[in-house]
Amino acid sequence: MTQSKRFKAISIIFAAIFLSVSLFAQNENGYVLIQQKCTPCHLKSDIAPYDFSKVDVIQQNAKTILYSIEHNYMPLWFANPTVRHFYGERVLSETEKTIIINWVENLEADAKQPEPYIDSNLEQNVNQDRKSNLSASSANTYNFENLSDKVFINFSELTQTLPSYISGATLSFSDKKIVHHAVVYGLDSASKNYRIAKNAPSSNLQVNGMGDVNLGVYAPGLNYSLLPDGFGYKSSATKGLLIEKHLLKLSDETKITTTANFYYCDNINVREVKSLNLTNLNNNFPIEPNTVKTYHGKAQLQDSISLLAVMPHFHKIAIHFYAFAVSPKSDTIPLLELKKWSFDWQTIYRLNTLLLLPKNTLIYYEVTYDNTAANPANPSNPPEMVWVNKGWSTKNEMMVFGLQYTAYKNGDETQKLNWVDLDANEVIE
Ligand code: HEC
Repeated sequence: MTQSKRFKAISIIFAAIFLSVSLFAQNENGYVLIQQKCTPCHLKSDIAPYDFSKVDVIQQNAKTILYSIEHNYMPLWFANPTVRHFYGERVLSETEKTIIINWVENLEADAKQPEPYIDSNLEQNVNQDRKSNLSASSANTYNFENLSDKVFINFSELTQTLPSYISGATLSFSDKKIVHHAVVYGLDSASKNYRIAKNAPSSNLQVNGMGDVNLGVYAPGLNYSLLPDGFGYKSSATKGLLIEKHLLKLSDETKITTTANFYYCDNINVREVKSLNLTNLNNNFPIEPNTVKTYHGKAQLQDSISLLAVMPHFHKIAIHFYAFAVSPKSDTIPLLELKKWSFDWQTIYRLNTLLLLPKNTLIYYEVTYDNTAANPANPSNPPEMVWVNKGWSTKNEMMVFGLQYTAYKNGDETQKLNWVDLDANEVIE
């Protein structure tokens, strides 16, 4: 063999090894990507159909999986990533799409199933092993005359009160289908009334009891996460807890156990995170049947704030949301666009880095409601008159844009936010 022939042969062997290694790596990546981007929902059938941790299930459903990815229908994520990226966003890059599509196509063509590659870190990425410090439960029986109910948990019934700051709280119910929304407040007076936030940094809006005493919320599909280290919600709770629930009307008497789990801050020196809800509860308005309408809201900030997260809240017939801010220097700061709204997948959109909204910034938000029969989420068929911001019934609508923020400090613009995911099983069960 001449030198050049030997070189060619060696090159071919190397190229073949390289090719098979990269193909193999691609196979692994296709499976791993599905585990990262799809299995968090497609594991237990109560959240979404199919168990995608099993290769044979992926193989049997290859056609629908390919369709769902090619049409950007899955993974389920409604925020437009070209407007803003968020922590934990479930979107696929074009490269990731190609890798999954190639892997699933190969799998579909090949009756022999490859051994799945299991990344030992995978489980940790999804569920971090953080346990709650305090769990408070209360069982109540309802006959559903009221759509709204308040549960009081007196601290004298518990072994401990809350510390001054917590990293987060979760709410769960023995029957999730009956509770459609809930908020937990800390009580600092024996009167069992929660304080309405004072000194909210905004005008032209009403702060709806959701100031510095709102410790946690529940809504269908909500993605729970704890605040990054160094931040805390002020609990200001010395007397007890109040859990306000919005219930669906049912005919039978039903017992519901409500559980609130609290996670304390590891650090005592924390920056206080407050929540602010932009809404207009004084001004309710109707959406006529068979109409599609867009409504606008606006608020001005009286102080400079650093934004951590945003959360819009509507009921069933909202279809589109857009929010942006305009700074006093006339810079436009895009906040969030929801290409679609799903009542069942309400989401807290958490930022990866603090976002400065300077003093006097104007926040604009708009919601489109589709009250026609063409909207499959419409609870009434034929469509009925729907009121916005009038009561809690899911047949009516709400228009709320929630912000989580901290007072601005120099250098916040580059402050990364390391959110802490919770074990979904601990949250749900
Ligand atoms: C946030 C949760 C979530 C994530 C993440 C998610 N899905 Fe889904 N998926 C759902 C739900 C809920 C449904 C059923 C309701 C629906 O069709 O909208 C569903 C339905 C599907 C269906 C069935 C569609 C049909 O009409 O039968 C396929 C296929 C699918 N998902 C594939 C995927 C793939 C592939 C990924 C990852 C790239 C993924 N999903 C990520 C929640 C999710």
